[in-house]
Amino acid sequence: MFDLLVRGGTLPDGTTADIAIKGDRIAAVGHVDAPAARVIDATGDLVAPPFVDPHFHMDAVLSYGLPRVNASGTLLEGIGLWGELREVASVEDMVDRALRYCDWAVSMGLLAIRTHVDTTPDHLRGVEAMLEVKRRVAPYIDLQLVAFPQDGLYRTKTGRQNVIRALDMGVDVVGGIPHFERTMEEGAESMRDLARIAADRGLMWDVHCDETDDPMSRHVETMAREVTRHGLGLRAAGSHLTSMHSMDNYYVSKLLPLIAESGMTAIPNPLINITLQGRHDTFPKRRGLTRVKEMQALGITVGWGQDCVLDPWYSLGTADMLDVAFMGLHVAQMTHPAEMARCFTMVTECNAAIMGLEGYGLGVGDRASLVVLDAGSPTEAVRLRPDRLFVVSKGKVVAEKARNDSRLTLDGRPASVRRRHVSPT
Ligand code: FE2
Repeated sequence: MFDLLVRGGTLPDGTTADIAIKGDRIAAVGHVDAPAARVIDATGDLVAPPFVDPHFHMDAVLSYGLPRVNASGTLLEGIGLWGELREVASVEDMVDRALRYCDWAVSMGLLAIRTHVDTTPDHLRGVEAMLEVKRRVAPYIDLQLVAFPQDGLYRTKTGRQNVIRALDMGVDVVGGIPHFERTMEEGAESMRDLARIAADRGLMWDVHCDETDDPMSRHVETMAREVTRHGLGLRAAGSHLTSMHSMDNYYVSKLLPLIAESGMTAIPNPLINITLQGRHDTFPKRRGLTRVKEMQALGITVGWGQDCVLDPWYSLGTADMLDVAFMGLHVAQMTHPAEMARCFTMVTECNAAIMGLEGYGLGVGDRASLVVLDAGSPTEAVRLRPDRLFVVSKGKVVAEKARNDSRLTLDGRPASVRRRHVSPT
C-alpha cells in the first residue's frame, strides 16, 4: 500500500509513467498496479520534479515602495533604498513578508530556494529573520542562506567580520560582491579572501559577480582562478555575470575555458537584469544578460535565477520560475526546440545541481517532491506558464488547483478554450 500514486503523467523526457510514493521517498516508477491511500490522475499532464530558484533576496521580498519607489530603476538606487529599509525593518516584518512569499512559492511548485541575506548591518536582523524562516518552512521548502555583504566585504568597517558572524550563526553559503568594492584590486582580493573562507569551512560559494555593464569588470576571471585553486568546482556559482555581455569577444574566448576548467556554475537572472542593466545606455541599449548559450556549449552548468519579487529592485514578480525561464528564453534567443526545452531543465535540474540538492529527481529513492502541470511537455509549460494542478513536497500534497478551462458563449454557442496545443517538433 503506497501513500500516494500519481498516475499516468508525462515526464519531462516525454515518457509516461505512474509514480508511487511511500513516506517522503519515491518508491516505484513505471506501471504501478498497487493500491494507494490517495491517487492523483495526471493523465495527459506534465509531471516534473519541483522548481528550484538558486538566486533570491528573501529579506527584501514584498517590500516594493518601502521606503519609496525606485524612480531611476537602477541597481544603485535599489541598493540605496534597501540600505534605508534594512535599518528600520524588524525581524518580525522580514519573517512575515518571507513567509507570505513562501506560500506563493509553494503554490507555484517552487520548493527549493537559495536566498542571499544582507550581512552589512551590525544588527544582523536579516540573518536572524531568515534563519527563523528557514526553520519554519523546512517541512516543505529547502531554503539555503548565503552570507551576502551587500555593501562590500571591505567597503564597510565590519563587512568581513559580519560575514563570518553570519556563517557562525548557521548561514550555509559564502557570498561576495567584488564589483561593489572600492577598487578592482580590492574586488579581486575579496575573491581570494572569500574563496579561502569557503574552502576552509567546506562551504559552497555564490558570488554576485560583475553585475555591471562595465566591460572591464573582470572579477569572474579571478573567481574562476580561485575556484580551480581550491577545487570548489560545482560548489561555486557566479551570479549575474552581466559584464560578460559587454566584454570584448577576444577576451571572452580566453575567459570561458577558464570558467569551464574551474567547474563553477553560472546563474543569470533575466527578469532583473533585462530591467536593471543598460540604464546608462542611450541607443542601442544592451540586454544585460550574460552569455548563456556560449557557456552551455562548453559544458558549464547554467541555471536561471529569479533574484527579486516586489522589492527595491523589481516592481513585479510571481514566484513562478516559468516566468523566469520565459524571459530568459527570449533575452538569450533560445528558440530552437532543444533550447526551449533546456530552459525548463534550467529551472529544475540545473538549478538543483547548482544548489547541490540531495535526492532531487523522479527516480526510485529520490525525494518525493514533484509538480503536476496543466501542460503536455516542458516546452509547452514554458509557453503557457500553466496552472500547477498538484504540488507534492516530501511526500505530502501541499497545493492543488482546479484545471483552468475558460468557457465562452459566443453567438449563443457554448465553447471552451484551452491553450494547450501539442505541436510537431
Ligand atoms: Fe541578487
